[in-house]
Amino acid sequence: MHFFEIVGGNRLKGAIPISGAKNSALPIMAASILMDGETILHNVPDLADVRQLQILLSRLGVKAHRDEEGALHLRVEDEMNVHAEYELVSKMRASVCVMGPLLAKRKRAQVSMPGGCAIGSRPIDLHIHGLETLGADFELANGDVLLRAKKLTGTDIFLGGAFGSSVTATANVLMAATLATGRTVIGSAACEPEITDLGEFLNKCGARITGHGTPQITIDGVERLEGKEHHVIPDRIEAGTHMIAAAITNGDVELTGARIDHLQAVVDRLRRVGVIVERDEKGIAVSSSRRLEPIEATTQPYPGFPTDLQAQLMTLLCLADGNSVITEKVFPDRFLHVGELNRMGARLRKEGPTVIIEGVKRLIGAQVMASDLRASAALILAGLVGKGTTRVHRAYHIDRGYERIEEKLSAVGANIRRLDE
Ligand code: UD1
Repeated sequence: MHFFEIVGGNRLKGAIPISGAKNSALPIMAASILMDGETILHNVPDLADVRQLQILLSRLGVKAHRDEEGALHLRVEDEMNVHAEYELVSKMRASVCVMGPLLAKRKRAQVSMPGGCAIGSRPIDLHIHGLETLGADFELANGDVLLRAKKLTGTDIFLGGAFGSSVTATANVLMAATLATGRTVIGSAACEPEITDLGEFLNKCGARITGHGTPQITIDGVERLEGKEHHVIPDRIEAGTHMIAAAITNGDVELTGARIDHLQAVVDRLRRVGVIVERDEKGIAVSSSRRLEPIEATTQPYPGFPTDLQAQLMTLLCLADGNSVITEKVFPDRFLHVGELNRMGARLRKEGPTVIIEGVKRLIGAQVMASDLRASAALILAGLVGKGTTRVHRAYHIDRGYERIEEKLSAVGANIRRLDE
């Protein structure tokens, strides 16, 4: 097992290239199940989650390989298997994205029910509700979700839940509806840029989708879809994480390829903290040289502040000049980083879904444990600025979602190494 060792205190300066979006690549890869012919995807990041989905897709008869330029080629070779097993789904929750495509194309899907995870219980009732409304029969057997439908029929589907819209439920229903008979209208659809990207890809392949990127998506079913070439959008969460890395080290960093239009809420919060964020020709320039102001922030579905950057923002606010408040409205239990940051000298107090952050003058290096992907990123950020040495154990969490993070950070001046336990 690997860990990261970081010696804090270096100012980051230079350019960090932003990779393709994990959360866009995963559902688009799953959509290859729907296609006749070959799908070619550019800008798919080389991440543990992507490799994990490749393994699942290969079991489902989808052959995948990278060419010399790094493009991912996917082609369905065998449609017999429709079972996404526990062993794979339990490792990566996004595996659930194969459910809609399997049902639509192969008329059956058997997907192990994902359990809870480090960020709380994560139900899939909205996925099932959407697919049942399209005409699927649903049954739960031995911990597997079984869905069957001779035919899917377009209809109106409301996909709002207790915590708002669901990204992967929207993806699943959207993908299934592309091959349904007639018109489907999804209400309270997720508006995340990754859903827009999925819709764009599906339309290239022959789907008839409008309204993707808004809360109401309309899908007119088609007979068949043909695999096409597509460039995955840049990863706004990776970009946001490195924006905070620049800010917390009083650095001056350009995030090449990042899209500021996908990061409005993040830019707004960072500017209020006192960070300088500008769009430039290559992406986004971030610098900081002044004291950090305390702020309030609430995570919400897009276009609100993303839950996937909550932990990282918290690390930054640890060093603000006063008390900040963060409220988590998407995953109210997503606070495993709080205890670890406190071990580094932070003063954080959790009150239900809210954390009160008393700004401190400095963080202090320590041994800390990564618990989930974004919490791990928050600990690395703390390590970049913490006095002395920080060791972030369980590096595999980071590898699920950040491509070569230690190389990218070292290239702009961070003192970070990956070591064996
Ligand atoms: C996706 C992202 C993840 C991000 C999350 C929220 C991918 C692969 N992952 O996860 O990085 O943190 O969006 O932006 O894109 N919910 C239900 N019932 C359901 C589904 C969800 O109640 O059937 C709830 C969840 O518990 C949560 C909220 O809805 O409180 C939003 O979750 P959702 O958007 O579904 O997250 P994911 O799609 O799993």
